[in-house]
Amino acid sequence: MTPTTAPAGTFPPGPQEPVDMAQMRADPLAFVTRMQRTYGDVTSHLGDGERVFMLHRPDLVRHVLKDRVAHYTKAATPDDAMLRPLLGNGLLTSNGPEWARQRKLCAPAFRRTAVTTFDGVITEEAEALVERWRPAMAAGTVLPVEHHLTSLTLAILTRAVLGVDLGAAGEGFGRAVDAANRFMGHYVPDPDPDPADTDLRRHGYLQARAFLRLVARTVIAARRSAGAAQPADGPADSLLDAMIGELDDESLRDQVLTLVMAGHETTAKALTWTLYLLDRHPEEARLVRAEIDAVLGGRTPTAADLPALGHCRRAVEEAMRLYPPVWLISRRATGPDRIGGYDIPAGALVCVSQWVLHRHPDFWERPDAYVPGRFAAADLPSHLYLPFGGGERTCIGRHLALVEATLVLAVLMRSARLETEPGFRVEPEALVTLRPKYGMRMTARPR
Ligand code: HEM
Repeated sequence: MTPTTAPAGTFPPGPQEPVDMAQMRADPLAFVTRMQRTYGDVTSHLGDGERVFMLHRPDLVRHVLKDRVAHYTKAATPDDAMLRPLLGNGLLTSNGPEWARQRKLCAPAFRRTAVTTFDGVITEEAEALVERWRPAMAAGTVLPVEHHLTSLTLAILTRAVLGVDLGAAGEGFGRAVDAANRFMGHYVPDPDPDPADTDLRRHGYLQARAFLRLVARTVIAARRSAGAAQPADGPADSLLDAMIGELDDESLRDQVLTLVMAGHETTAKALTWTLYLLDRHPEEARLVRAEIDAVLGGRTPTAADLPALGHCRRAVEEAMRLYPPVWLISRRATGPDRIGGYDIPAGALVCVSQWVLHRHPDFWERPDAYVPGRFAAADLPSHLYLPFGGGERTCIGRHLALVEATLVLAVLMRSARLETEPGFRVEPEALVTLRPKYGMRMTARPR
């Protein structure tokens, strides 16, 4: 039980001994779940040489992400150490007034109404993927669907962010993004790294980073020179165009890479888990297909169809509840605080896990069941459902992600019946994003 108030200096409950980090990293989801189930809604443990505080209740989460947001920073968190070398000082990694300036600048381009203009790009790329699947669909060949969805969301996002189709260079860009993701995905903060061990991976990562920066710089330079000939107040064709007049080249480059890296893998994971869960729940899949047939009657969806594609959207929302692509958020307290009756010292690392919150038995009926319908009448407590985070640092791309995932799902389910390969093992693995550990192997049968 969480006391209403604990004597000053008492740490929230948790294991007495320092946590075996190797064991924890082998199954972080089991670890965070055990913390909440065993010790309650405010917990603490010693890990990686410091005490980590975890909050597992919506009101406490809201305190950190919203009510006292100015007292918590992303600076010097493990995420920061991992992301900053690649993403520099973009929207995801900046803090304080610099973050506020960038957020204000980017916000208009990410509004719900603004991002619907990308519907054509989204459906064009999704339909191209279905075309690439056709031979495998005819032959019944198994497809590495997780991989294909990552390429798809990357293609969509580079077009939306940069305003160009990278064409042949897109493949190299994809490989470089992959290499950077792999490096960051397995990032383990190591105070005493073995140089021989890390050099090889690091070399690949640095090469990938140099390539990604080169592509971003080239596109920015091209847009800058083309921009001179365009009317200054015309509508922005891309997210880059919306920012180009306001940022210097280096900041633009950081922002472009931030948006691409933050936006594509997360959306791909949301879609991968949705397809998996719909295969496991034929009744839900039937509802989704019936909706697609009734609304679209065989044509390509547009943004105007989104209000009528409620089952598609809820299928994604519920998948992100069970398998939140971002499963952990961390902050550092900039000064002393008190949360749930406990003292939080200045500088403390405070974490929130969507995996725990989204399956918390006190707040969800049948927490482990896939029930998209629960989002139809949802009147959820604030800061309980946080696939996109909460408070002022909530995901700027959330509308784009939902528009994209809903439209892609509609295109894929209209054309194909996706079935997980029989006997294929599906297990979540919590890296930077929550991914299926062995990928997702599915057959696509024509409908
Ligand atoms: C299903 C897809 C997505 C998920 C699950 C997701 C999740 C999140 C979460 C949880 C955060 C908050 C992190 C924190 O508070 O520490 C976040 C922030 C952010 N996301 Fe997303 N995201 C998605 C798609 C996108 C897309 C499509 C973009 C851009 C094109 C994007 C760009 C960003 C940026 C720039 C931030 C930092 C915002 C700020 O601090 O002001 N995300 N995202």
